Amino acid sequence: MYSIFHNYCLKSLNTFGIDAKADHFIEAKSVADLKEAIKWIKDNQFQWFVLGGGSNVLFKGDYKGVVVKPAILGIDDVYEDEQYVSLKVGAGVDWDNLVEYAVNRGLGGIENLSLIPGSVGASPIQNIGAYGVEAKDTIERVEGIYIDTLKSFMLANDGCQFGYRDSIFKNELKGKVVVTHVIFRLSKTPKYAIHYGNLEEELKQFGQLNIANIRKAVIAIRNSKLPDPKELGNAGSFFKNPVVDITLVEDLQKKFDKVPYYPVSNELVKLPAGWLIEQCGWKGKRIGKVGVHKMQALVLVNYEGCSGDDVIYLAHSIRESVMEKFNVTLEMEVNII
Ligand code: EPU
Repeated sequence: MYSIFHNYCLKSLNTFGIDAKADHFIEAKSVADLKEAIKWIKDNQFQWFVLGGGSNVLFKGDYKGVVVKPAILGIDDVYEDEQYVSLKVGAGVDWDNLVEYAVNRGLGGIENLSLIPGSVGASPIQNIGAYGVEAKDTIERVEGIYIDTLKSFMLANDGCQFGYRDSIFKNELKGKVVVTHVIFRLSKTPKYAIHYGNLEEELKQFGQLNIANIRKAVIAIRNSKLPDPKELGNAGSFFKNPVVDITLVEDLQKKFDKVPYYPVSNELVKLPAGWLIEQCGWKGKRIGKVGVHKMQALVLVNYEGCSGDDVIYLAHSIRESVMEKFNVTLEMEVNII
C-alpha cells in the first residue's frame, strides 16, 4: 500500500528550496505500490508527474495534481565475473549513497560522479555526467513500467539513446514510463578518468591513485565550486553547455584571450555556458532573492525564499544577454514544472 498525503509541502523535496505545494503526494516504496498509485491517478484523471531527488526541477508555483515519488530502495548484486559486478539499484536510492557504496566495495566506474545530488532513478533520464564520465558509461540496463499498460519493461544500454544530458526517456518515452531500477556494471579493475579540468592536479594532495581518492578529489572540487543545496538552494547547472559550430570559436578567439571549449566532432564544439554567462557580467550578481553563484556562473541560487518565477525571470535575462553578445541560445537543463 502506498502512502498518500494531501496539500503537501514540496520545499524539502526540491533542492532549489521553492516553497510550493502539491494537491496530492504519493510515496511508492515498491513496484506494486507504484502500479497501484498510477491506477488510482488514472481512475481519477489527475495530472501527475514523477519526482526523483528534486535536484533538477523548478516549481513555477503550486502543483495542481499528484506528485509521485518512487521510493524503491535496495542495492543488490545480480551478476559477477572476474572483472565486473552488476548491481541492481532501486530508483529511490540516493545517487551519492550508491557512489559511496561502490567505492567502499572497490567497484569502479561512477567515482567521478560523486556528490551529484538526486536519485538513482533520475540518472539515466538525463544521463548525469561530471569530470569526464557519464552515467551511460556504466548503465547496463534500465527497468521500469509503462504507464499505459502498467507492464514492466527492460531497456539495454544501446536502446536508451544516451546523449549529452539526454536519453530516450526525455524524448520518445517521455511521460510514457516510470523508471523503477537501474542496473550498473561496475569494474573490479577500474580504469581511471582523471584528465578533466584540474582533477589530476587536485588528486595529488590525496596520494595514491585509486577510486577512493578520485572520489575525495571530486568532492573537494565540487565543494569549492558548487553551492551545497542544504545551505543555498540550487539545481546544479541551470543550462546545458551549448553545442556550436567551430567557426564561432574561431571568431571568439579573435576577441577573447582564452576561449574554453570541448570538441564534439570535426565541425562542432561544446562551449561552457558558465563562461558565456560570466562574460556577460552575470557571475556573482544578485537580483532580489535570486542570483548567479559567485564560483560557478552556470548555477542559479535561491538566497531567501524566492519563487519559481523569480528564477525564470533571471534565467530569461541571462539567455537574452548571451544571445545578444554571442548569438548562442542557452537551453535549460532544469525541468520547469
Ligand atoms: N567557466 C567559466 N566561468 C564559470 C564557470 C565555468 O569561465 O563561472 C569555464 C571555465 O573555463 C571552466 C569551464 O567553463 O574551465 C568548465 O567549467 P566546469 O568544469 O565547472 O564545468 P561546466 O562545463 O561548467 C559541466 C556540467 C556540471 C559538471 C561539470 C564537471 C553541464 C551543464 N554541467 O559544467 O554538471 O559538474 O561539467 O564535469 O554539462 C550539473 O549538471 O548540475 C552539473 C553541475
